[in-house]
Amino acid sequence: MWKDFACKEFLAGQEALSVSRDQVPSIDQVNSSLAGRTGFQAIPVGGYLNPMRFFEALREGKFPTTVTIRGRDSLNFSRQPDIFHDIAGHVPLLMNEKFAEIVKKFGRIWSNIHDLYLSDGSSSSKLRSEIRGITRLFWFTVEFGLIEEAGEIKAYGSGILTSSGELRNALSSKVELCRFNLDSILNRSFTIDKYQRVLYIVDSLDSVTNALTDFEVKLRAGELAHLEDGEPFAESDNFYGLAGSEIVR
Ligand SMILES: [Fe+2]
Repeated sequence: MWKDFACKEFLAGQEALSVSRDQVPSIDQVNSSLAGRTGFQAIPVGGYLNPMRFFEALREGKFPTTVTIRGRDSLNFSRQPDIFHDIAGHVPLLMNEKFAEIVKKFGRIWSNIHDLYLSDGSSSSKLRSEIRGITRLFWFTVEFGLIEEAGEIKAYGSGILTSSGELRNALSSKVELCRFNLDSILNRSFTIDKYQRVLYIVDSLDSVTNALTDFEVKLRAGELAHLEDGEPFAESDNFYGLAGSEIVR
């Protein structure tokens, strides 16, 4: 399915990574391939990582990689990330200079949101809204992004590329395909336990880079304080970096 539906940058990265189809790859082997390209490094984690630590790692060019693997009964769809999602799905694009910068920039912006929160005395509801915004942008690009390539729709989001069911769903009439629109994404909640109902198509990876720049402008202007409620629903303050870190307000 990748041959037909993955974007060219993903396929180039996947080929250069040359991970065996027959065995679970070692993180060291993956990292030596990455080191020769973008310098990103996969770091092993045992399971779900709190988002603040996740994005801090991205900022430093480290990609938290789940080292467990899904069961055979979850090949179509896995709610939790696993090594297949992280290595087969994310790492090929981390071999691409432009995409690696995009992912680092997500990490920097997440951290900047906290810095702004600490420096301007803003409320935690503003922080929560801004974090909702950057998380949605990550979701609809890095996780579930589609891209137009020579008139055809291809996938670059890892959540699509590591779920055959999600990939079929993305290309079916069940999904509303929208042109990439930052304001729409920032106010769009998403589902994490069902196939996606709405997906966004970019013209090129540059559109994602530009969207991050636009996001930062809006962030500094204080325009992201009242985004629509909805996913990500985070019950724990940990999600926002309000607990379990040096931020205690
Ligand atoms: Fe992911």
